[in-house]
Formats: sequence, structure tokens, C-alpha cells
Amino acid sequence: MSKVTQIDHPLVLHKLALIRDKNTGSKDFRELVEEVAMLMAYEVTRNLQIEDVEIETPIAKTTCKMLSGKKVAIIPILRAGLGMVGGILKLIPAAKVGHIGLYRDESTLKPVEYFCKLPQDIGEREVIVTDPMLATGGSAIDAITMLKRKGAKNIRLMCLITAREGVEAVIKAHPDVDVYTAAIDEKLNENGYIVPGLGDAGDRLYGTK
Ligand code: PRP
Ligand code: URA
Repeated sequence: MSKVTQIDHPLVLHKLALIRDKNTGSKDFRELVEEVAMLMAYEVTRNLQIEDVEIETPIAKTTCKMLSGKKVAIIPILRAGLGMVGGILKLIPAAKVGHIGLYRDESTLKPVEYFCKLPQDIGEREVIVTDPMLATGGSAIDAITMLKRKGAKNIRLMCLITAREGVEAVIKAHPDVDVYTAAIDEKLNENGYIVPGLGDAGDRLYGTK
């Protein structure tokens, strides 16, 4: 059964308010998305496995904890998911990065696939799928289905802003996937945009509108 975690750390909420603000330009928007992704990654990786290791400090021998389990793969859904990757890599520099290209057809709101390149050992990794926006959930559902077809097993989804109906659709389609979000917004508008949301994440990141 999926677990949905809403990350409500004050720093995340503060930065998210700035991200939502329509007066925030692309440069600040990009930096803030990366920073929030880094802060969220702290919570998203909370249950990674650790093991005891013997360490010798300059003073004495001691037993410490280090990561021991599966390695991590970060999989951004292009384009906007890419904006979160740098922040996570700051915490987990050894993670591999795969890419899934999907865009929402503006009239049908259905995701259209155009790219998929994943680490070869994806089945052996803890997979973090990134996308700032989860609206209808169609893009995330299809991306996760693609990942599973390529052998991924341990998948978590990390978004900045979600719509409740999108979260429900994802956990219904993929009950084995945990979802992490900084906000669950009230609804979608007639164009499929999250209300209040932040507008079009890809366009705001890359200045394409
Ligand atoms: C946005 C967003 C998600 C998707 C969410 O991408 O980054 O991938 O829409 O909508 P959904 O939950 O209804 O599928 P978009 O299609 O605008 O592509 P872009 O990132 O290339 O701008
Ligand atoms: N994609 C976006 O970028 N924003 C939304 O509100 C919905 C989908």
C-alpha cells in the first residue's frame, strides 16, 4: 500500500511560496526548485538501509553507521523533473541519473512518450522519480509503468506540488510506490493546471513562455 508523505518543513514551505509567486523569474525559480528538491531528498531517503562500520577517529576506534543497501537512481520526467536533479545529487553524488521524456498533449491531457534512457542496473537500485508537478497523474503513472517494464522495483515519486486527484490516481495505479510532496493543492482547472499551483513548471524553469 502506498504511503503519501507531505513534507511540511518550514524551509520547504517558505521556498515553495517563493516558487509559486508569479513574480519569481527563471533564475530564482531554478535555484529554488533545486534547493527544495535537496531538502525534500533528506526525507525521501530517510529509510535507506545502513550498516555498522568500524571507524578510527584521531582519538579512538568506534562503530558508526554508513549506507549499505541498494544504490540510488534519480529519474527525472522531462522536462521539468530535470530541475530537481541537481539538488538531489548534492546529497547523493554517486546516484545514477536516467531520463524519461513525456509531455502532456494539451488537448487530451494524455502523456506522450518521446525518450527513455535508464541506468542498465535499474532493477538493482532505489529509484527516485522526480517531477515538480503531479496534476492528473497521467505522466507519473506512465513513467512508472515504463520503469517497471525495464525492471525497476523499488520506486518512489517526488513532486513539489500535487493535486489530490493526481495523487489518488498514482497510488491506485501503482500501490507499491510511495509519494512525497511538499503540497497537495485543491483542484485542477479546465486546462488541467493545478490550482493554485505554480503555472507551467517547464516554461518557468526554462523561460519558454
Ligand atoms: C508537466 C509536468 C508533469 C505533467 C503533469 O509536464 O512537469 O510532467 O505536466 O501533468 P499530469 O499529471 O496531468 O500528467 P509537461 O507535459 O508540461 O512537459 P514539460 O515538462 O516538458 O513542460
Ligand atoms: N503541468 C504543469 O507544469 N503545471 C500544472 O499545473 C499542471 C501540469
